[in-house]
Amino acid sequence: MKRRDFLRGAGAFIVGAKLLGCGDNNVPDPIDEVVPRGTFAFPQGVASGDPRPDSVVLWTRVVQNADPLATVTLQLEVASDADFTTIVVDQQIEATAASDHTVRVLVEDLGEDTTFFYRFTAGVDEIVGRTRTAPGASADVDVNIAWVSCQDYQSGHFGAYRQMLRDDDERAEADRVHFVVHLGDVIYETIDEPSQRALDNNLEEILLAEPDGTDRIVSRFPSGGGTNKSGAKFARTVDDYRHLYKTFMSDVNFQAARARWPFIYTWDDHEFTNDSWQSMANYIDGTTADEGSQSRKLAASQAWFEYVPAQLTGAIGPTGVSQDAKDFATATVSDARFTAPNTDNFVDEANNAAAIGAMTIYRSLRWGKHVELVMTDQRSYRSDHAIPEDLAPLINAGAGQTVFFDPRNFLPRPIVQFLDLGSITGQATIPGIGLPNPRAASPIGTMLGKAQKAWWKSTMQASDATWKLWGNEVPMMRMLVKNVNNALGFDRVLDGDAWDGYPTERKELLTFLRTANIKNVVVLTGDIHAHFAGVLLDDYDSAGTPNAVATELITAGISSNSLFSFYEAATRSAAVPASLRALVTVNASAKGGSSFTENLNMLLTKGLVSAGTFAGAIANAGVTSVAQAIAIANAQADATINTHLRYADTNAQGYGYVKVTEAEVTADLITINRPVGAGSTNAPGIKRTASFTIPADNPAGMSAATITGEKPFPLS
Ligand SMILES: [Fe+2]
Repeated sequence: MKRRDFLRGAGAFIVGAKLLGCGDNNVPDPIDEVVPRGTFAFPQGVASGDPRPDSVVLWTRVVQNADPLATVTLQLEVASDADFTTIVVDQQIEATAASDHTVRVLVEDLGEDTTFFYRFTAGVDEIVGRTRTAPGASADVDVNIAWVSCQDYQSGHFGAYRQMLRDDDERAEADRVHFVVHLGDVIYETIDEPSQRALDNNLEEILLAEPDGTDRIVSRFPSGGGTNKSGAKFARTVDDYRHLYKTFMSDVNFQAARARWPFIYTWDDHEFTNDSWQSMANYIDGTTADEGSQSRKLAASQAWFEYVPAQLTGAIGPTGVSQDAKDFATATVSDARFTAPNTDNFVDEANNAAAIGAMTIYRSLRWGKHVELVMTDQRSYRSDHAIPEDLAPLINAGAGQTVFFDPRNFLPRPIVQFLDLGSITGQATIPGIGLPNPRAASPIGTMLGKAQKAWWKSTMQASDATWKLWGNEVPMMRMLVKNVNNALGFDRVLDGDAWDGYPTERKELLTFLRTANIKNVVVLTGDIHAHFAGVLLDDYDSAGTPNAVATELITAGISSNSLFSFYEAATRSAAVPASLRALVTVNASAKGGSSFTENLNMLLTKGLVSAGTFAGAIANAGVTSVAQAIAIANAQADATINTHLRYADTNAQGYGYVKVTEAEVTADLITINRPVGAGSTNAPGIKRTASFTIPADNPAGMSAATITGEKPFPLS
């Protein structure tokens, strides 16, 4: 393949200077050849973020090879053509050690709904990217969005981005992606976490290699890191978090996607710490609220601000609603003990308040007449999980139950509901359990916190966009496993770190959509490492018929191990009864099926009896095929289980794509082949695509999945 032809002078090196095969895109791509290094290097590529009608944030990181600490002077040019003949911005910036040599430049007065090319030049070295601005708020245009989450560098290659690029090349111009929404877990803060080691299709651990044969690993932290319960090292300092961004953003597929499209980011937990709430971690022991990590929170926020291009200060939203987003400002904090939460369930302890207050990222963006994109922060202001870490095993033991894993998954739904209500219940002990109520004096649980919740309501209400898309980190819809014949002790919810763990506020928000008559809300979600689609109901526990108020589309991760693989691993233990494991996975190889059949999909969509029946049918000598076993199991389906759920593919990696028009939203959940092959630069190929249609003004009219490719179990 040929080098680009605008090399500027002898000895010039253009990092990533290749065009993709599709000429229409004119996107530089870092993968096509080994690029010779000049005096300067751009080892994390380029990126753009937060496109608005006349502005966008441009980003790169540059180092002088001979002296990585030296200040580097960069020239930034923005042009309306790929040949840079019509240059609309030409300015100088300095990249210094203070920001780890990252630069983030808000470029304004660009003109709306326009594709721009930009390049950063240091000496004779340069790097090129493409971006585009948003149409104005009255522009009657369709909007195409890809959304992603969860990219553990050590679990897999980022081939989902390569697939996204290839897929977009094949789309008609009118369907091509305008921007990418990233819902978090851009990095993972641990090195060699056992649950995130790369797995092959048989769920056996494998070592990942880069195309050049080197191991795909994250090298040790500059500080040495801390050590968590599972022996993994976790980031402690700003240099540790910078190290993670540098490593994850060295991935050529991620770089290629960032060079082609503007991204709009929020964070989830792993930009800071696993299952975090405010600045609290849960690494060392099973005691809740004893791991105040204010200094890590501050460090994590600083590194996010340096590496993730977003327009925070000066962000604009719907008329009449102020945007609270603001840039990182350093603070002095120490890891003090948490105090009890205040009446709004925020911990006022000074170091927590300072660490959280150092930066605010929730904000909304507008893309033409039809899309308001509301981006929230579901980590910085949330209250502790309803069930404290140390209580989950006691509750399960008290009920004579062995759970899959504590303290967040497969939790007893009635206990979560009871504890989430806090002091309102007025009860000193947990009903039926007899243990003291740890939330007897607590406020109601919150995911958004007081200020963000008020902002979310006003933004949703004030926006005149046809569709309100919500960039929501963690799953909102109920994922219930119903207790039958007391097999599980309780009804269970899949994930107490998601909205199923904060059901009171979920009901409040979804009821608000109904009472305020806010139509056409589509929630885009990540976090759970699985694809799901479904309808959001205002009250999942309504004695009558709850109202459909919105829809939710959940994408699997780019590379992180699947939800199914977590549950599979958690049920390998001899302490977990075989009957319980069979609800998650069944070895159907003797009947021509997979040795790890995803019975978890059946459990969620057909109920416990069907899942148990499938396992029994596979073990039955008289049943000769998986299809026959599925038919027997389907005959036992619970017609009341998760009826809002339209689709479950719990063993997936991939991405999501939505096309928004005035009349409808169409969506694809794309499952790629497991991204663990030898070469990271090949598109992994699509295993299946599940497509949905959501008609305007009718969330309950969300279609069932239309699937191309291999259907997920138990669909046929
Ligand atoms: Fe994740």
